[in-house]
Amino acid sequence: MTVHRTSRPRHYLMCRPSHFTVDYRINPWMDPAKPTDTDLAVLQWERLYALYQELGHTVDLIDPVAGLPDMVYSANGATVLGDRVLMARFRHPERAAEAPAYQAWFEANGYAEVVAPEHVNEGEGDYLVAGSRILAGTGFRTDPASHAEAERVLGAPVVGLTLVDPRFYHLDTALAVLDDDEIMYFPGAFSAESQAVLRELYPDALLATEEDAEVFGLNALSDGRNVLLAEAARGLADRLAERGFTPIGVDLSELFKGGGSVKCCTLELRHAAVPAPVAGG
Ligand code: ARG
Repeated sequence: MTVHRTSRPRHYLMCRPSHFTVDYRINPWMDPAKPTDTDLAVLQWERLYALYQELGHTVDLIDPVAGLPDMVYSANGATVLGDRVLMARFRHPERAAEAPAYQAWFEANGYAEVVAPEHVNEGEGDYLVAGSRILAGTGFRTDPASHAEAERVLGAPVVGLTLVDPRFYHLDTALAVLDDDEIMYFPGAFSAESQAVLRELYPDALLATEEDAEVFGLNALSDGRNVLLAEAARGLADRLAERGFTPIGVDLSELFKGGGSVKCCTLELRHAAVPAPVAGG
């Protein structure tokens, strides 16, 4: 059975990796002893930025800040639902200063309700909007107490999921939303209880292999039809194609050194009306 997939135009926020490097280690992928190539990171990122626009999406940019090498992972900056924005509060001091930078962007860009959180949460790294619900990760970064805060601020029911494998420290490294009621994930990244919750909610989910998860194939972004994902995740790309999606492989090998891929570099702005950008570019 071939399903016909349709894409919906999306609005994203990205941050050019002009200051990207790996000089601290807050996840198992980061190795400060391993050299990074900032120019190559920018080049690879530019390709992703161009791809979104070729696919008809709108991309806003936030200015990168020197000394914040992880700011390129814009998914972590906030979680946006309509006019409501729950800002991030980072677990590690190395990333703490990203939160005010992202908050300033949202305030300058006309978002009505910008909330600085009480609890630690790393934005769309751990909050994934799936149709009318929000899938919420915890275990490594986002405080479980943040889940109730997100439910209150964003006004959608939150389903808490516990991550247990340090390689998959953010929900968006282990699970991707393909469509309102369709997801893909790597079961081994979740506690037994959370695996049961996912099976119950999504009996037809695409289950990724460890091999595809390890190259960050699940750190993917879907517009309902096109699924941009790490090009090394070939098996996953085939499975997506079988389901009628159009997988598009992207090489972000430099940004992988920081422990991120496609989704980490992309924050979705689920705004009713697209505001005119005033900063970045
Ligand atoms: N080095 C960053 C960190 O460990 C990578 C963040 C990746 N972002 C994501 N949405 N998973 O915080």
